[in-house]
Order: sequence, then C-alpha cells, then structure tokens
Amino acid sequence: MLINIFPDNDELHRAVSKEIIQLVKTKPDSVLGLSTGSSPVDTYALLVDDYKKNKTDYSSIVTFNLDEYVGLDAHHDQSYRHFMNFHLFNHLNIPADQTHVPLGTGDLDNNCQEYEALIQEAGGIDLQLLGIGTNGHIGFNEPGTSFESRTHVAPLLKDTIEANSRFFETSEEVPTKAVTMGIKTIMEARKIILLAYGSHKAAAVRDMVNGEVSEDLPASILQKHEHVALFLDEEAASLL
Ligand code: GLP
Repeated sequence: MLINIFPDNDELHRAVSKEIIQLVKTKPDSVLGLSTGSSPVDTYALLVDDYKKNKTDYSSIVTFNLDEYVGLDAHHDQSYRHFMNFHLFNHLNIPADQTHVPLGTGDLDNNCQEYEALIQEAGGIDLQLLGIGTNGHIGFNEPGTSFESRTHVAPLLKDTIEANSRFFETSEEVPTKAVTMGIKTIMEARKIILLAYGSHKAAAVRDMVNGEVSEDLPASILQKHEHVALFLDEEAASLL
C-alpha cells in the first residue's frame, strides 16, 4: 500500500483530483469507480473547477458508483444517484448514459447481476475511489461480508445507519439495506485510491493497514491489492 499523508485536507483533495484528471487525460475512455459519503465531496468540487477552467474532456469516460440505498430512487435527495448528479455529473460533459449508479428499486437481484455485467462489458474499472466506514466497511460491505462477494443487496449495521443518519432528518428514515459492489468487484479494479480523514477514521485505518486480513474488517483485503494508494490526513493516520 502506498500511504500518502497530508497536513491539510485541501492538499489531500488536490492530490486525489490530480490523479483522476491525469488518468482522464491519458486515457480519455477510462472507467472510473466512484464513491459517495462526505470523503470525496471536495475532490469532486476540484474536478468541477478544473473542468470549468481547463475543459478536461469527460465525454468518453464511463463511471460506476459503488453503492445505492435500497428504496431510494434517483429523485430522492439522499439517494447516491442524486448525490453524484449534484456534486459531479451535472457539471461535466459526461453523457448521462455513461454514468452508472446501482439501482436501489425494482428487481434488486436482477439489478445486481446487470450491474456486474455492465462493469465487465466496459472492460473493468481502471481506478476505484473508496472511502472507509468507521467499522472498516468499503462500499456498503459491512464486517462479515465475504471477500468473494460481487454486487449484492446488503443489510446495513446499526453503526452505519447511525453514522449516516446525519444526512436524514431522523435515523428511522435511513434505509436499512443497500445495493453495493461486492469485495471481489472492488478488488478487480486495476487501481484503488482510498481517502480518509479525521480522528474517527484512525482505528479503521490502522486495522486496514496493519491488522490481520479478515472479513471482520472488510478494508483489510486491500493489503492484497497490488495498486492501492491511501490519501490520509494526519488524524486518520495517527495510529499508524
Ligand atoms: C458510507 C458509504 C461508503 C463511504 C463511507 C464513509 O456508508 N457507503 O462508500 O465510503 O460510508 O463515509 P464518509 O465519507 O461520509 O465518512
């Protein structure tokens, strides 16, 4: 694992956005795996700034997001499809049909299979962005998820529901299930960048980097990936 530690968040997001922009420029038909949550928001803002200034071309880029809440459609303001349109897609010249977010409504098992097939058809993911949950989850793969998992419907744990309730009016409104790329899907990405900042992520980051590789800490599987770069602030890196 390549570990980059930044004294401030601005530099961290600049570094991550630079990596993405460079990939988009060198391989204009790249397949990007994208994430939601608060971690990538400022990175996306920098991509939008760069697009406005430099007209970096996203017209041939294809994207696949990690996950979506079950029961929230694209119009729900807490759906991850809405999040991605709002923070990124609406501001770039990426055709809407080249952006993919798992569907959290309708026939979920079928949606999962189709999502995996679409990733394969696109030639696999060149660069996958990840955040990490405080319990070590990646995507919505909670502790205990099989390392062999592919896109599937996942129950959310109480801690995750609590952590994500800050985006909803009450914790009762937070969906209890999600559609998420599986661990195996994530591990097939050719390169992975994981962003984490804040002291609340320090224990999960420590266990991801130095702990035993175990399904109890889903992010620990990243130790087995050949091209993983962590982008951390000093607080998230404080227990390394
Ligand atoms: C959420 C998302 C993950 C995200 C993680 C961290 O539950 N499903 O993809 O990486 O939790 O979120 P945040 O970046 O808000 O800390």
